[in-house]
Amino acid sequence: MLYSNLIRPLLFKLPAETAHDITIRQLELLQNSYLGRGLIKLLSGHVESNPVQVMGLNFRHPVGLAAGLDKDAKVIRGLFQMGFSHIEVGTLTPKSQPGNDKPRLFRLKEDHALINRMGFNNEGSIAASRRLKKRDPNWGVVGGNVGRNKITNNENAIDDYIASMSHLRDYVDYFTVNISSPNTPGLRELQQEEVLKKLLTKISDDNSKSLKPRPLAVKISPDLSKQEVQSISRLAVTCGFNGIIGTNTTVNRIGLKTKANRIKDAGSGGLSGRPLTRHSTDVVAWIKEAVGDSAAVIGVGGIFNAQDVIDKRNAGADLVQIYTGFVYNGPSMINNIQKAWIK
Ligand SMILES: Cc1cc2nc3c(=O)[nH]c(=O)nc-3n(C[C@H](O)[C@H](O)[C@H](O)COP(=O)(O)O)c2cc1C
Repeated sequence: MLYSNLIRPLLFKLPAETAHDITIRQLELLQNSYLGRGLIKLLSGHVESNPVQVMGLNFRHPVGLAAGLDKDAKVIRGLFQMGFSHIEVGTLTPKSQPGNDKPRLFRLKEDHALINRMGFNNEGSIAASRRLKKRDPNWGVVGGNVGRNKITNNENAIDDYIASMSHLRDYVDYFTVNISSPNTPGLRELQQEEVLKKLLTKISDDNSKSLKPRPLAVKISPDLSKQEVQSISRLAVTCGFNGIIGTNTTVNRIGLKTKANRIKDAGSGGLSGRPLTRHSTDVVAWIKEAVGDSAAVIGVGGIFNAQDVIDKRNAGADLVQIYTGFVYNGPSMINNIQKAWIK
């Protein structure tokens, strides 16, 4: 209530990225004091426990925060305090990089959606690992989402993934290999079967040989055919991956309510939120059909309410993650939607 009546109207008066940055800064301050954490809890409400075990990890309940909101792992304590069972930090690259020119994040309020072309702006996986070192494992599960630097070409992409994973390995519980962001030129080409096979095999081999092998997930795009989704999912399982995350944002703009000129002004980038709900649920069902129980399915895309969670679960999801719904509905949605999860 406090979020939708007071905080959101104030934040939505600001440009989208400014609102995001202010929120992160406030959370950084609040999470570090007992009083601040109490305030976060008050705002978020009580989140009940509803334990699930996925990829060999124990989750307090099935609802987590999707990658991209806390790219640099600055506010995981505050976010866990809100009630998320898991937080996926990143996408992290081995070297820090500024991302694309601003403006690069836009609200489509009529559509309950966002368009972003952030371009993996992040301080690098070493800086994130220093922050994650201080985390208490009891707060919840942390996933490390990794990608390649913009200046690295696809031939050398493997080295970037492996480097970030070695920086983060001691401090995260699972890894997500991001091959589906539309905002790093050429990244989605890594989803081509032969290229992907090489990438996933190398990552998986490196992971198994390490002192602390972690469960591995791959995050895929919603802009693939059913056949592509299913062959990528099967390939990931063959390569030893434990989870498939569907989906990232879409480059599709069909059926939006927002005026065409505003959508055009926003320009290129990935669309998230309500327009993605149904299609990402379909993708979850395609993944489940392909992998059965041989890998976990993590459903992401346009989750705003309990029904959206039920739909993802019925399609085969073992966990769900939210981003845009959280921006629109605030932290009190976490408990409401996780209660809908009864398996
Ligand atoms: C501003 C913004 C930044 C994002 N950054 C990343 C990212 O760095 N890595 C990633 O894997 N996904 C990223 N995503 C995609 C989300 O994790 C999620 O897959 C997508 O937005 C669909 O979920 P939603 O409809 O609940 O937002 C980003 C999304 C948004 C809106």
